[in-house]
Order: sequence, then structure tokens, then C-alpha cells
Amino acid sequence: MSYFRKNIEKAKGYEPGFQPAETDVVKLNTNENPYPPSLNVMKVLSEISPEQLRRYPDPMGSAFREAAAEVNGIGPDYIMCCNGGDELLRIAFQAFCDENRPVAYPVPTYSLYPVLAELQNCKAIEVPFDGEFNLPAKLAASAASLTIVCNPNAPSGSFINVDELASLADEAGGALLIDEAYVDFAEKNCTALVKNFDNVIILRSMSKGYSLAGIRFGYAIAQPDLIAGLAKVKDSYNVDAVAVAVATAAVRDQDYFQKSVEKVKAERTRLTGQLRGLGFDVPDSSSNFILAKCRNGKAVEVYEKLTQRNIFVRYFAYPQLKDKLRITVGTAEQNDRLLSALKEILSEFS
Ligand SMILES: Cc1ncc(COP(=O)(O)O)c(C=O)c1O
Repeated sequence: MSYFRKNIEKAKGYEPGFQPAETDVVKLNTNENPYPPSLNVMKVLSEISPEQLRRYPDPMGSAFREAAAEVNGIGPDYIMCCNGGDELLRIAFQAFCDENRPVAYPVPTYSLYPVLAELQNCKAIEVPFDGEFNLPAKLAASAASLTIVCNPNAPSGSFINVDELASLADEAGGALLIDEAYVDFAEKNCTALVKNFDNVIILRSMSKGYSLAGIRFGYAIAQPDLIAGLAKVKDSYNVDAVAVAVATAAVRDQDYFQKSVEKVKAERTRLTGQLRGLGFDVPDSSSNFILAKCRNGKAVEVYEKLTQRNIFVRYFAYPQLKDKLRITVGTAEQNDRLLSALKEILSEFS
């Protein structure tokens, strides 16, 4: 006999990328930034006082709200702090979806969306992307209560123009959540849309561009009414005092952030070129990972051989992805280790 709700009983749950315990590995499987966070972050962390730990944290993380508002050129009441971008996704599903209120999103995309739909017991309308990952025209017609577009998309790294997302916001009957977890590595973002559309929520993560995946911090940008509604659904103290202090220091050090992002982008260009040279089809990416298609179709074999060499990338057994590998852009040294392993592995196939 099960004590769970039926949908929880049958749900498989989200399968996070493998987190190896060893440190002497090349870990290019969960899109972390390969560079450390700003030194200002480490200083703030070392100065956390017992008093900051004794007391409950500020429920809205005001220090971070103000810093993020300045960086994004909007008011602090347009920002809500979250325990990672993933928490915002869960909050959005709880706030907008139920048995009679579906979610819609293009696929393939972030594999957490269907898991959250299952947990919330809402219908998921999955609209396939075309081969070039253009925004599917049918998405606007889905009449979903919540539409999600991941931009840049994971795992394709493709980017949809801001104008197209403005049209979608205009046509969508419900809320439109634009998941910008990877936008730090793109040339544009959708911040401006929140000024014109009262249904747009932008998700940001501190895990990628700011190298803070370990503290779990993200935030929402939306009009104040929408922020107030989402805040009803969050835990009262959803972001802890240490995380708020650290994330605030990170977002205030824009100089360091820009340099870190530029280094990742330069390595992305180099890695893309080298992989093309090895015979992979690699579209340009607007993210900190690339999606590489194995022309021989043997992506899963290549993935397994890389894993045997302690080089971790991501493989998805999904129809549009089963001949591809998603590779996080690492440091120059990590990328070189990957490239020389790939050379060896490919020669075994020929
Ligand atoms: C597309 C996408 N959205 C959101 C997130 C959530 O990021 P986090 O919870 O680390 O802020 C991730 C994490 O990998 C992601 O890939």
C-alpha cells in the first residue's frame, strides 16, 4: 500500500547529472562555470558573523534585491530571490498550474519541466522544436496557464530573438516564464519585456555566470504584482543569510563577472572549432555548453568511453538528442583533455 498521491507514486523524479566524488576528473556534465567565484565573495563568506547565523534571514533578501535591481536597471520590487532557479520553476508550477491548468513548452528542453508537471499533476503540452530550434508557432496557440521558454535553450544552446518572445508574451493567454539560466553567456536578454508585459517572468541563476552553483541562488524578474503573487508560494525564508550575502557580493562585482564570462565565451569558440575539426556537427551556442552531433551516430558509445577515462559529459536518450553529446565549456586544460580523448576514441571507430 502506498501513502503517496497517485501522481507522486508513479513519478520517476528528476535525475540530476552525475556528481563524482573524486576531484581528479574532467567534469563537463552539469554546466558549472569552470572558474572560481569572485574574491569578494570569498571575503564575505569568511566574514559571516555568528549573529547572521543565529537570526532568521531577511525573508525577501533585500540586500540582493537592491544589488540585482541596479545591475538590471529596474526597481527592487521587480525582483524575488530564490533557492536556485529551480525553486522559481517549482513556485511557478504551484502558482499557475493544476489538473485544469496546463503548462506548455517547446521540446527538447530542460528535463526538469516535465518532472514538475508530473508532481503538480498538470498536463504538459510539449511542442516540438524544428531542427534549427526555432520558436514553434503552435506554442502561442496552446492556451496554457504557464508557458516556459528556455532561452538560451538547454541542451541546444540556441537563442530565440527577444522580438519573437515579445510576440509570444502578447499572444499567450497565461504567464510566460523565460528561463534565462544561461543568459550570461548570450549577447542579449529579455529584461526589457517585463516593463511592457504583466505576464512575463524571467528566471536568472547565480549558478552559471557567477560560479555559485554550490550555494543555490537564483531570482525572478517580473512586474511587482506578479512578484507579490509568487512570493505567497515561496517558503518564508527561502534564501539563507549566507547565500544572500554571498550572492550580493557576486552580483556587485560586475568586473570579475564580465571577465569570467568572456573567458568561457573565448573557450567556447575554441572548443566549437576544434570539435568541428574532429568531425562533429556543432551549431553556434549562446550558452556555456555546446551540443555536438556525432556524425557516426555513436554518441552513447563515445559518452561511455569518455566516462571510462573520467571525462564526464551529458548524454540524453531522447529522440532528437540520441546522436549528440552536451559538453560544458571547461578551462583550456579541461577542454584539451577532452579533445585528446575524443581523438583517441574516434580513431578506435575508424
Ligand atoms: C535550463 C535551466 N534552468 C534552470 C536551472 C536551475 O539552475 P539553478 O537552480 O542552479 O539556479 C538550470 C540548472 O542547470 C537549467 O539548466
